Amino acid sequence: MSYKPNDSQPSGELVIQVVAMPADTNANGDIFGGWLVSHMDMGAGVAGRRRANSRVVTVAIETLTFLKPVSIGDTVCYYANLLRVGRTSMHFKMEAWTLSLQDERAKKVAEGIFVFVAIDESGKPKPVDR
Ligand SMILES: CC(C)(COP(=O)(O)OP(=O)(O)OC[C@H]1O[C@@H](n2cnc3c(N)ncnc32)[C@H](O)[C@@H]1OP(=O)(O)O)[C@@H](O)C(=O)NCCC(=O)NCCS
Repeated sequence: MSYKPNDSQPSGELVIQVVAMPADTNANGDIFGGWLVSHMDMGAGVAGRRRANSRVVTVAIETLTFLKPVSIGDTVCYYANLLRVGRTSMHFKMEAWTLSLQDERAKKVAEGIFVFVAIDESGKPKPVDR
């Protein structure tokens, strides 16, 4: 499956939406990067679980870029785009976009590639239907 980058609108399925709160800030007063990453990971997990119809785990984050700071009160929307299905693994391109009350245009704030593996009850990799 090919992926065409698009910076003007989100790509993929909306998997999580959450409002950034004061408790999620770093020392600069912007939103902490780890908070974004955990939601990107969770969002890819939601999509992976649905695609594989089984438990999944993160095996790797292959790329991750923070493009713009996120402010308190922004709504952060996470999109999952399935790039590739292997034997037991799935590659998701994750995008985080913000909406704010001050600016009507959505902004892409982070993106990355998250790799998930489908696992069985004992935590061993299991094939994903292709
Ligand atoms: C994910 C896990 C089950 C894979 O087990 P494993 O014995 O290494 O499995 P394999 O070597 O057969 O690899 C399974 C798949 O993952 C892929 N994979 C393994 N390491 C990878 C890496 N570093 N980057 C990308 N893909 C990777 C393999 O290519 C394979 O894909 P395919 O089946 O589609 O070809 C195991 O490593 C694990 O449990 N890791 C911890 C996961 C976890 O706790 N995640 C949360 C982090 S807090």
